[in-house]
Amino acid sequence: MIRHRRKLIYLLGFMGSGKSTVGTLLATALGWPLIDLDTVIEAGQGLSIREIFENSGEAFFRQIERAALAEASKAEPAVIALGGGTFAQPANVDLIQAAGGTTVWLDCPPEILRTRCEGLENRPLFRDVQAFTQLFAERLPYYRLADYRVSTEGRTPEEVVESILSLRFF
Ligand code: S3P
Repeated sequence: MIRHRRKLIYLLGFMGSGKSTVGTLLATALGWPLIDLDTVIEAGQGLSIREIFENSGEAFFRQIERAALAEASKAEPAVIALGGGTFAQPANVDLIQAAGGTTVWLDCPPEILRTRCEGLENRPLFRDVQAFTQLFAERLPYYRLADYRVSTEGRTPEEVVESILSLRFF
């Protein structure tokens, strides 16, 4: 399907999939700004993601995440690195699809994601292996709605950026 796309790329995927790292490199390669949603949220609240979850809970986090997403989606051009849960909220999927950008899912097997997330302090939703596995399974159907899927397994962030650029959708 050919349709007009805004110069707006959303990177999505589970925590640990490399959205921020790939986003930084992709934005540099394109000469576009990077909007890292978690960073925007932390700056807006003056708190870390972990502190926001601890102080105010996940429902509040999802509210401010949605507001940050709506604001970020006005930008063009931009690479937007989403949080792991952003694209797993139906209202956010609608907002992103209506924004007219392109969605790219950084896909990675859960075993690899798990080893990357273990020991990281700023991931409040990484509690234990069982919860992680369940969350991953719940989110897959949403991630599969992305316009493009790029595998990150065994590949450097630079190689992932090359794959995205070779899709030539903009
Ligand atoms: C979350 C992932 C985090 C952050 C928050 C919630 C999630 O982002 O937005 O902790 O629901 O999976 P990363 O995917 O960048 O870790």
